[in-house]
Amino acid sequence: MSSTLRLGIAGLGTVGSGVIKIVQQNAALLTARSGCSIEITAVSARSRSKDRGVDLSGYAWEDDPTVLAQRDDVDVYVELMGGEDGPAKASVEAALAAGKHVVTANKALLAHHGQALAVAAETKGVNLRFEAAVAGGIPVIKTLTEGLAANKITRIMGVMNGTCNYILTRMENAGLPYDVVFEEANQLGYLESDPNLDVGGIDAAHKLVLLSSIAYGTQVDFPSAQLQGIGEISIDDIHAASDMGYRIKLLGLSQMTGNGLEQTMQPCLVPYNSPLGQLEGGTNMVVIEGDSVGQIVLRGAGAGEGPTASAVMGDVMDIARGFTLPVFGIPATQLVNTPSAQSKAPFAYYIRTSLRDAPGVLANIARALGDAGISIDRLRQQNHDGDSAPILIVTHPCTPAEVEKAIKAIKATGDATSDPIALKIVEV
Ligand code: NAP
Ligand code: HSE
Repeated sequence: MSSTLRLGIAGLGTVGSGVIKIVQQNAALLTARSGCSIEITAVSARSRSKDRGVDLSGYAWEDDPTVLAQRDDVDVYVELMGGEDGPAKASVEAALAAGKHVVTANKALLAHHGQALAVAAETKGVNLRFEAAVAGGIPVIKTLTEGLAANKITRIMGVMNGTCNYILTRMENAGLPYDVVFEEANQLGYLESDPNLDVGGIDAAHKLVLLSSIAYGTQVDFPSAQLQGIGEISIDDIHAASDMGYRIKLLGLSQMTGNGLEQTMQPCLVPYNSPLGQLEGGTNMVVIEGDSVGQIVLRGAGAGEGPTASAVMGDVMDIARGFTLPVFGIPATQLVNTPSAQSKAPFAYYIRTSLRDAPGVLANIARALGDAGISIDRLRQQNHDGDSAPILIVTHPCTPAEVEKAIKAIKATGDATSDPIALKIVEV
């Protein structure tokens, strides 16, 4: 590689513009730290005429990102368009086939095609780096692959979708219902173009499965992740959790068990005063546990122009310094295809539903729980609405299978006037 590292950037939106600003504004610092002059040679986006608040006049323009990715004057193809297939996948594949390094922020692409892309990169002896894809500006991939490289990772937990955390904390702080805050988030431009990626837990699960692969040396396995979004969380749930000293978070949990890899992304109750419970707005937090290091907590901006561009450029700097690592920490051909496991660990659960306000109904619900092997810790019935009575139950620790059985049995009584929801209480 020459002492100039030449970037081709496809995608000039939030992240792409941020990367260009860093390259333009911090040029001397980048050279001093990498020993390399880092230059942009060519760019691509859909619209050539759009004002992006950055000067593009010195760069060649390509309409087709796949052509950009293969240009002779590009050493590193920086993919910042997004999307699990389409031009992102085609152009990254073309770049790797042409022997170019690739840096991307695209978690969807890697969660679905990470294994094949890693094999392609390693076959060609080039880097495929994706720090920005997980938790924005937080250097969590670097932490796992480098700082914690000597640890057996035992568990990863985290809040990895800023939009969901914004919605949940805003509902609580302003006392507003989900639909109103969802619309606010939309107006603020926080939501992905398909909002279900955020509120359905999909975006956060994309991130979690990438971390799992690095942590446990396994092939990326998105289809097996258990997902539950935040759309069913009501302001009453948030108030009830708060009354009990908890907050509701869209929490990712990943751990290797004797039965296989457990990966869940679900709304959970966490203690109000825990680091995860204290997380406000769009901030992300990743908690990593290793056999030697114990527990470490990483916290920071999970999205936005500056933080995400910072992570992209961290990867570019590693390439400029001549630093090479297998894509997921160990060679892709050695990543294990591990069976997935449904979580069996017992947790206390928060169960909320509404019941017909009639004699014997509560006894039926208690029986449904008891028959499923679940013991009640606390129970509250208040704010009757006509002949329907909202009920909130906190269980003693029980397994997900027992909760599923109980929920089926509660529905079968015909006494529930709303679909029961059950949320894990995670004492982090
Ligand atoms: P964005 O603002 O929507 O920008 C996307 C860019 O890609 C736009 O410049 C768009 O061109 C260009 N583009 C889309 N389709 C294209 C095509 N077929 N050919 C050429 N260019 C195309 O997206 P973003 O927020 O910057 O996100 C980029 C990537 O970073 C995504 O993978 C996202 O998941 C990831 N990411 C984003 C954040 C964040 O905070 N935004 C955080 C972490 C990761 P036009 O501008 O001409 O329409
Ligand atoms: N939609 C994502 C979030 C963007 O809200 O966290 C950053 O990946």
